Amino acid sequence: MGSTGRGGEAAAGEVTRADFPEGFVFGVATSAYQIEGARNEGGKGDSIWDVFADKKEHILDGTSGELAVDHYHRYKEDIELMAKLGFGAYRFSISWSRIFPDGLGKDINEEGVAFYNNLIDFMIEKGIQPYATLYHWDLPHNLHQTVGGWLSDKIVDYFALYAEACFANFGDRVKHWITINEPLQTSLHGYGIGIFAPGVCEGEAAEPFLAAHHQILAHAASVDVYRRKFKAVQGGTVGFVVDCEWAEPASDKIEDQAAAARHIDFLLGWYLDPIYFGDYPESMRKRLGDRLPNFSEKDREFIRNKIDFIGLNHYTSKFIANQPNPQPKEIHFFQARQVEILEKRSSGEAIGERAASEWLCIVPWGIRKMINYIAKKYDNPIIYVTENGMDDLDDPSAALDQFLNDTKRVGFFKGYVGAVAEAIKDGADVRGYFAWSFLDNFEWAQGFTKRFGIVYVDYKNGLSRHPKASAMWFSRFLNGAGADS
Ligand code: NOJ
Repeated sequence: MGSTGRGGEAAAGEVTRADFPEGFVFGVATSAYQIEGARNEGGKGDSIWDVFADKKEHILDGTSGELAVDHYHRYKEDIELMAKLGFGAYRFSISWSRIFPDGLGKDINEEGVAFYNNLIDFMIEKGIQPYATLYHWDLPHNLHQTVGGWLSDKIVDYFALYAEACFANFGDRVKHWITINEPLQTSLHGYGIGIFAPGVCEGEAAEPFLAAHHQILAHAASVDVYRRKFKAVQGGTVGFVVDCEWAEPASDKIEDQAAAARHIDFLLGWYLDPIYFGDYPESMRKRLGDRLPNFSEKDREFIRNKIDFIGLNHYTSKFIANQPNPQPKEIHFFQARQVEILEKRSSGEAIGERAASEWLCIVPWGIRKMINYIAKKYDNPIIYVTENGMDDLDDPSAALDQFLNDTKRVGFFKGYVGAVAEAIKDGADVRGYFAWSFLDNFEWAQGFTKRFGIVYVDYKNGLSRHPKASAMWFSRFLNGAGADS
């Protein structure tokens, strides 16, 4: 690790840009529903999140993404700030219902296409490479209502039509595509516990597993379209973004080691094993039986190796122990894993310092282990860390300075970025790193109560943007000179 720097200089042993290979990309990430706003503008149709958040009780503070942080109207200001800070890439998502308001893939909304064309053009003008996510949880509401959303196999074709329209319209400039963001959260929270849109909560008998199955097939179908129709001319790559916390065995006991491995199977293997090996992990099949759908021989062939890179969203780690009692079949997903998560705020067993979200402990070494696990299991694939970051609790009475002086977040990024550099030295093929998030934004069911941004958004004063110390740290890290200079 490097040992020099200036103004907030790297201390001895602190990570520097020079610890990363040439061509390594540093960017920031956001998603459409969390930042765009403009719910009813530009010909957009409603998404499941628009409708879900209409019920105020679904969101902790009763807010919604209707206005969000108004990126739809302020995208130029946002991209300019990103460029000024020195980021070379921006991972954003396209809102499906801006492109096809009813989701059915026939009537394209030219105003929606124009918005993303302008956004992409402006990024490129400012020297920022676009990394576009096709699905970051905002399914067109009509597809949920009339087709059954991710529970219906029809969604696979609708998703492929939408993906094709995006490749055709933006693929001359977008060279890095992400099909689906965190399918795990859609399966579990959208179709299992019901705390995310569309709020399906039927006891988790089959729904999460069907939603997962169709997301995997939809991912593969859109990669197939890209490879058949666009790859030769556009030359881009297409990945899948999975999320996984690192599972550290609570002891050396074989049962705990196995439980930790199982935990990762249930979070990560659920999505990646079918694509790399043609089927769900054995540990899932054993515990979930016929609740897990089957891939036909044809499906297996179709999905295998339909991926150019793995996008990893990683935030935290957990101590995992075995939970020995076999659970009846109808028991929900979490118990079926037969693992115990030894993370309780009060028990003193925390694996690392806490951020604001109760699930988020700061454990930089966990990302190195996670990356090395993926490298080993899936034959050293290309990996991008597509999200990594931490949150502060919003406190409307706190002074602005308190938020801007986010020393804990600076420490978080130094630690995690340094651990990614170590993973690369260990041999993993990591090509890029994206901080979550560029801006404070709408944190789903938590509303605006959690701030993940490296740029503060003043919700009470015209949504003005203010770079935090963490943004300035990145700026120095990337440029060797501060964006404030
Ligand atoms: C992952 C999701 O992709 C993103 O939308 C969310 O805001 C962050 N995690 C933080 O919870």
